[in-house]
Amino acid sequence: MPHTLTLRRPDDWHLHLRDGAMLQGVIGDTSRTFARAIIMPNLVPPVVTTDDAAAYKARILSALPKGHSFQPLMTLYLTEHTSPDDVEKGKASGLVTAVKLYPAGATTNSHDGVRDMDKAMPVLERMAKIGLPLCVHGEVTTPEVDIFDREAVFIETVLDPLRRRLPELKVTMEHVTTEDGIDYIKGAEKNLAGTITTHHLIINRNAILVGGIKPHYYCLPVAKREKHRLALRKAAVSGDARFFLGTDSAPHVDPLKECACGCAGIYTSINTMSCLAHVFEEENALDKLEAFASLNGPAWYGLPVNEEKITLTKREEPVRFPAKIETGAGPVTVFDPLFPLYWDVSE
Ligand code: DOR
Ligand code: ZN
Repeated sequence: MPHTLTLRRPDDWHLHLRDGAMLQGVIGDTSRTFARAIIMPNLVPPVVTTDDAAAYKARILSALPKGHSFQPLMTLYLTEHTSPDDVEKGKASGLVTAVKLYPAGATTNSHDGVRDMDKAMPVLERMAKIGLPLCVHGEVTTPEVDIFDREAVFIETVLDPLRRRLPELKVTMEHVTTEDGIDYIKGAEKNLAGTITTHHLIINRNAILVGGIKPHYYCLPVAKREKHRLALRKAAVSGDARFFLGTDSAPHVDPLKECACGCAGIYTSINTMSCLAHVFEEENALDKLEAFASLNGPAWYGLPVNEEKITLTKREEPVRFPAKIETGAGPVTVFDPLFPLYWDVSE
């Protein structure tokens, strides 16, 4: 087994950076290791227009620690009132990399999302025409549908009909959590890819519910049964170009997670590459980590791969990550994979 691994600098194709003091507190954990990230627009209020995205991008760049170079790839939050012309303007100016679909009520700050897909069709048609990808939070919100089935039902009742209606629309199915999602992506002829988070490769639903309720393992889509985690692992380490890293690192301050109605989100920006090297080594697939973290994403989004490299080193002793980071907004608990981590990013 090799003890060092050099890869092209990775990118994170799904990231929550928030704003203000939280943005300031978390951005360095991403920009230390990652060259670019697709930035989620679910702020309060959401990033809906090209002007909103330009202003948010400027705030992100001004929060960057000195000496870090990092490119935020901006997304627009799709509403039922989004203007097709504004979306086209965003793409033409090079500012907007994708548009994000949140079914209304599916997750954190999604109430301004889409209730009726028909109302979003003019924008989606324009995106298909101009080649702008749609990033999808793939869960239905219908109360009768069990939370563990929401991804599978979304594929059947929303995503597949949409893709049949608009086969030219490029869709990124974000944070795939089920075997159904993996199979659906593998079965698609074109214009469909999926991101996989670090934590969904490591935990199943027992992490949230066994031995007491564990709010720091609660995220959306919620982690599923073990067979789904195994399907995700198999896809991630396969080298298949349709699967790539989107951490969905989503910081919330501890008081908002450790309460009667805790927020969804797991913070992995700081230890993602260590966790991934561990997972890929367990799967005897360290040689596929670069495809997953550094090559497949740029290929899908039509961007150049990063020229810079990073080196991961396997240490003799476990690498210590803080249990929490302190931000100006409050403490944020760091994802604990529940096994020691030996791989360390050494530039
Ligand atoms: O766990 C999650 N947290 N899933 C999401 O879809 C949103 C995110 C957040 O913004 O906190
Ligand atoms: Zn997310």
